[in-house]
Amino acid sequence: MQKIVRPAARLSGAIVLPGDKSISHRYAMIASLAEGVSTIQNYSTGADCHSTLGCVKALGIAVAEEGTTVTIHGRGLTGWSAPAADLDAGNSGSTIRMMSGLLAAQPFGSRIFGDESLSRRPMDRVMKPLAEMGANIEACENRFPPLTIHGARLHPIDYTLPVASAQVKTCVLFGGLFADGRTIVREPIRSRDHTEIALREFGADLKTVQRTITLEGRPTLTGRELIVPSDLSSAAFFLVAGLLVPGSHLVITNVGLNPTRSSLLDFLLSIGAPIKVLKLEAVNGELIGDIEVRHAPVRGGVIEKDLAAGLIDEIPVLAVLGAASEEGLVVRDAQELRIKETDRIATVADNFSRMGIEIEVTPDGMRIPGKQKFRAAAFDSFGDHRIAMAFAVAALRGDGESTIDNAVAASVSFPEFWNILERAAS
Ligand code: S3P
Repeated sequence: MQKIVRPAARLSGAIVLPGDKSISHRYAMIASLAEGVSTIQNYSTGADCHSTLGCVKALGIAVAEEGTTVTIHGRGLTGWSAPAADLDAGNSGSTIRMMSGLLAAQPFGSRIFGDESLSRRPMDRVMKPLAEMGANIEACENRFPPLTIHGARLHPIDYTLPVASAQVKTCVLFGGLFADGRTIVREPIRSRDHTEIALREFGADLKTVQRTITLEGRPTLTGRELIVPSDLSSAAFFLVAGLLVPGSHLVITNVGLNPTRSSLLDFLLSIGAPIKVLKLEAVNGELIGDIEVRHAPVRGGVIEKDLAAGLIDEIPVLAVLGAASEEGLVVRDAQELRIKETDRIATVADNFSRMGIEIEVTPDGMRIPGKQKFRAAAFDSFGDHRIAMAFAVAALRGDGESTIDNAVAASVSFPEFWNILERAAS
């Protein structure tokens, strides 16, 4: 699928985004292990979160969908049954990495695979701690999907994460649900804490002291009613679009503003973006608010260290903003970008070269001079949702009509993106 994106005169109106991808995955997985019914409102419409639902169904759990409300009939911690076929994680790193922790502890074996992109992403980061817990997992070249998981009895560990990864943290905590005793995870850099919040909501005994998380094994989880906030990582495309296109004024409603995700807002504010949070409330332990953005020039800046980890999903679209900023953008310590759905340093640079934007690529980031002119171009998503959307945003500032090849990739996290963009620009 190819999309045509024309320069926008201005973007305006209220924007309602789909549910947060990270939270949707976690609610679905935990609800499938809870006792009784859970209803999840505003479940992500993205293909990734439907890969998770597909896996949960294949494990014998009844799932009903009505619009964006998902009802899951959990049967407790021991309620899964052996899948009849291999489990399909699609494009979703979260699905395969987080499910692995749960599958490793089952009294049956399973096999979980993904698409071509996921098959190139490293799984040794979850296999290692799970092996320490007693899991028995085989992978291609000991690190790539598909994973063949022989169920085993897991024991608790005290694990210090070698990489800042919420997926790895979640995988260990999920394994720890089935272990007798106390599982401890220590984080060098704080990553998103949706798993900790969700496990507590479902009734687990979990404590966080600074960056150390302690979970008591074999909890009774209880089904509940939940509302998923809208996805801040999807909002990022509209925040940047609003900043970039003269005359724009957008209000994005009910967005998840969990502090472990909202370094995006802190960063944008720090470089001079006129962003306001209009209202703030807590729902199921997660902060939700409305965000207002108006067009304005921004300074540019440096993304490095903890900030690079906190903004990892937003860097492609921030790179686009950086090229238009006063002083440009430097990204360091972001080598994780190289092992996302695509090598996002390479795919950003490739699309920048198509529109005549200067960029210097480094092993762990990029340097992008500011005040660059945006030209219309023929972009390619390379099958990566965030690249498709980041360059659609760039195209809004182009000097003519741009095209995005493989635009369908956006559906992995945000199927409504193209319609919402068209409406905001008209
Ligand atoms: C996610 C964690 C991040 C992020 C991904 C979703 C999650 O990955 O990039 O899009 O839901 O836990 P890592 O934990 O591997 O950094």
